Amino acid sequence: MDRLIINGGRKLTGTVEISGAKNAALPIMAASILAEGDHLLHNVPRLRDIMTMGRLLANLGAGFHLDENGAILNCSRISNYEAPYDLVSTMRASVLILGPLVARLGRAKVSLPGGCAIGARPINLHLMGLKKMGASIKLEAGYVLARAKRLRGAAIYFDIPTVTGTENIMMAAVLAEGRTVIENAAKEPEVLDLANALISMGAKIKGAGDSTIEIDGVTSLRPLDYSIIPDRIETGTFMTIAGITAGDITIKKCRPDHLDALIDKLRAAGIRFRNVKDGIRVIGPERLNAANTKTMPYPGFPTDMQAQFMAMMCVAQGTSVISEKIFENRFMHVAELRRMGADITIEGGTATVRGIERLKGAPLMATDLRASASLIVAALAAEGRTTISRIYHLDRGYEKIEDKLGRLGADIRREKE
Ligand code: EPZ
Repeated sequence: MDRLIINGGRKLTGTVEISGAKNAALPIMAASILAEGDHLLHNVPRLRDIMTMGRLLANLGAGFHLDENGAILNCSRISNYEAPYDLVSTMRASVLILGPLVARLGRAKVSLPGGCAIGARPINLHLMGLKKMGASIKLEAGYVLARAKRLRGAAIYFDIPTVTGTENIMMAAVLAEGRTVIENAAKEPEVLDLANALISMGAKIKGAGDSTIEIDGVTSLRPLDYSIIPDRIETGTFMTIAGITAGDITIKKCRPDHLDALIDKLRAAGIRFRNVKDGIRVIGPERLNAANTKTMPYPGFPTDMQAQFMAMMCVAQGTSVISEKIFENRFMHVAELRRMGADITIEGGTATVRGIERLKGAPLMATDLRASASLIVAALAAEGRTTISRIYHLDRGYEKIEDKLGRLGADIRREKE
């Protein structure tokens, strides 16, 4: 396994380019199941999770190639309809092939994803939606068995605006008979990106990006030739890095308009922003102010930025109160930040962070994707040397992060553990 070695204390300055959004690329790759022919995807990030989704599709009989120009997928000869446990257990987003497989083949056998570090993460809402559309759903030996001659349009209300649940049902509905209406749908930019990709295939979708989405089923779709939106969480992570290192970073190929709630909080913490062509310039203050936040579904403060924001608040002036409202256990980074001297107390889903002058480097361990990002944020500003082990978690969601940080002046290197 690899680990990162970081010597902190440097102001990071310069320009960084953002990669394509992992959480848009994954559902859009799954959508390639819905149509024969060669699908071309551009601005696809080179990440472990993308390779895992590629392997999953190849396991179904699809062709998959990824290089610096993007991805080519061909699902003309999909024959197998099973997503095995050994693949699904490494990536929960594998559940995204459920809707497209039932829509294309009329059947799917997908391993239940199981829990993960940040919570139980059930898929009951995905299955409720498919059932309403006429699928028979059976749970057997840890697998979901779904079958339907042809899915029928239905009215589906989500108790929680589930992101991948909305994406799964949208992909099931585009080839169903009649109209599907999803109420209390997730509004994340990645959901809208999937809808735009499906529309480019010939799907009839209205309202994506808002709470109510209407999908009128069609009989067939054409292959994709589509470019993925930039990754807003990678963008937000670099913003917190500029903030904590009193840096001056110009972030290119990004969509700041996808991050209004985060930028609002970063401004409250004393970070300044300047619009530039095709990006945004971010300037960190000498000392950050404390700021409170709570994670909410989009357009609220993103849960995927909670850990990185907390790392930054560890060295702010004053006390910050941070509440995690989406997942039941997304404070795995707190124990590691405390090892660096952070003063954080947890009460249920709320963390109280008393800012200190300086964090101290320490040997740390990554536990999940965004927790490992928060440890990098902290290490870049800490005094002395930090090692972060198990960074395979990081490689799931950040493309060549040590190269990008090195080019901004960070003292960072990767080595075999
Ligand atoms: C997506 O996960 C993202 N993953 C997550 O990003 C992100 O943290 C999350 O949305 C919230 O924004 C992808 O898009 C691949 P949810 P998802 O369904 O769809 C509960 C990362 O770091 N729920 O919106 O799994 C669930 O337990 C990852 O890239 C049910 O109860 O999240 C959670 O508490 C981590 N039943 C809440 O809803 C269901 O059927 C939100 O989950 C589905 C969800």
